[in-house]
Amino acid sequence: MAVGIFDSGLGGLTVLDAVSKRSPDVPFVYFGDNAHAPYGVRDSDDVYNLTTAAVERLWDAGCDLVILACNTASAAALRRMQESWIPPEKRVLGVFVPLIEALTERQWGDNSPPREVEVKHVALFATPATVASRAFQRELAFRAIGVDVEAQACGGVVDAIEDGDLILAEALVRSHVDALKRKMPDPQAAILGCTHYPLMATTFQEALGQDVSVYSQANLVAESLADYLERHPKMLGTGTENMFLTTGDPKRVSDRATQFLRRKIEFQSA
Ligand code: DGL
Repeated sequence: MAVGIFDSGLGGLTVLDAVSKRSPDVPFVYFGDNAHAPYGVRDSDDVYNLTTAAVERLWDAGCDLVILACNTASAAALRRMQESWIPPEKRVLGVFVPLIEALTERQWGDNSPPREVEVKHVALFATPATVASRAFQRELAFRAIGVDVEAQACGGVVDAIEDGDLILAEALVRSHVDALKRKMPDPQAAILGCTHYPLMATTFQEALGQDVSVYSQANLVAESLADYLERHPKMLGTGTENMFLTTGDPKRVSDRATQFLRRKIEFQSA
């Protein structure tokens, strides 16, 4: 039994870390498409083709259930995959819904009509492709009314993290937060809508100020997944081992992953 976790690169490790702490008995197979990161500057056909190839590899590794721990793939490819590509015995889930449910104070699977919620001014930080898709706003509109979302496309941040240049990543985060604040001076909440960004969570929080609630996905996805597996135990698949796969250079990717998670991670070629 194993569950697949996919990201364009290292960002999904923030989700992997949380899900493996929350569900320690479940083996996880991680796939980082580091050779093709960043996805956030690609068009949706490109993201669709890369994401479906990665998901097939995870199915081959015995993961009937795959989590797209990548907002860009969730925004640009998931709906198309669900409409026509995923066979009935497999599941592919994205990472938006748990986050939006938390923001809109909903329980898992509460499909009641949209209603007013506590937060009114929300800043969304995400990749250019995720921002362009407007997928967050669409999911939010199904659940909440009267929420003003200001989105900031954070060009360059994923590249800097993938390159291990955290000084550049920090400078870029500060300048993107400044740009957001020029459009929305007092957000109540901020969504880190890219799984790479929790690696820079302290910088986001400092730049936004301590009064802003910063929502990131890892723990919310971990709770939703634990709940899902309890209700769908058959989706655990046939894989038995934790594994880390990359399309990039395994040594380089392992070094970065070990640095970010502060434990030894060994990637192998996908
Ligand atoms: N971690 C991916 C996300 O959540 C980054 C996408 C990219 O490669 O630009 O959107």
